[in-house]
Amino acid sequence: MSDSKEVSISIENKIAFITINAPKTLNALNRKIIKEIHQHLYNIKYDNDVRVVIITGAGEKAFVAGANIKEFASFSKKEGQELAQSGHDLLFNKIANFSKPVIAAVNGYALGGGLELAMACHMRVASENAKLGQPEVSLGLIPGYGGTQRLTQLIGKGKAFEMILTGQMISAKEGLSLGLLNYVVSLEELMPKAIEIASKTIENSPAAIKKSIKAINAVFGNIGLQNEVELFGQCFGTDEFKEGTQAFLEKRKPNFK
Ligand code: HXC
Repeated sequence: MSDSKEVSISIENKIAFITINAPKTLNALNRKIIKEIHQHLYNIKYDNDVRVVIITGAGEKAFVAGANIKEFASFSKKEGQELAQSGHDLLFNKIANFSKPVIAAVNGYALGGGLELAMACHMRVASENAKLGQPEVSLGLIPGYGGTQRLTQLIGKGKAFEMILTGQMISAKEGLSLGLLNYVVSLEELMPKAIEIASKTIENSPAAIKKSIKAINAVFGNIGLQNEVELFGQCFGTDEFKEGTQAFLEKRKPNFK
């Protein structure tokens, strides 16, 4: 049993609700939180009482505001690469290849690793206040939890370049029009909408669903993800990485020479 209260799970009507609750950092992902979500997924994988998973963030401000910048700000190249690789192994690829549908209920900021978490899920519903972005370049980094691959797969190369190279956030409405989100609803309607989609999948054959997920994922290879992990690791320890992360921690704009 984990002693942390940062990730909780409840199961109701064959739906597992996984909630990330770390308000002080806007639900930013650290290694402990990643391990906790991993453990919950492991526990429900073969549980016949669970047919679908909904992942959300607690509160009304953030789904997940990214990987925890404080945690990795002093990482070396090796540690940076290991951060990305272990994230994929424990969580992001686990979700993408999970045998049951996983739905992200995006209740606010989904930035960096937060948007990447939502994109690893099979479907995304967001509330109107949600803001989506890959701001890593402002930290001297690149997206390292699959963003360069999954964002491009979801919205196409041109818009993926725009989001990643400008680092700017987009609104939920724009995310919907780009195909990044399946639905946008009011905050009150977020969970009901996610449950509605979940309930529709529950009516269908679990074996056929499992095979569908496998078949759809087979459209995309893993070489790009591996390449991303290596490039992500190369960012660590550079002057630009130090400036980008320091600037965030000091609450100022970075000054890249
Ligand atoms: C650590 C974070 C955080 C993060 C927010 N906080 N995001 N801490 N890591 N990713 C903390 C802040 O430091 C602050 O702590 C508290 O949460 C509230 O945040 P504020 O910035 O004061 O709130 P606000 O002004 O409303 O701005 C909200 C925000 C901003 C726009 C979401 O917090 C923000 O830009 N966050 C960083 C987003 C980001 O760059 N994400 C990508 C991370 S890199 P204090 O102690 O001051 O109250 C990444 C890499 C993924 O995700 C790949 C890894 C392999």
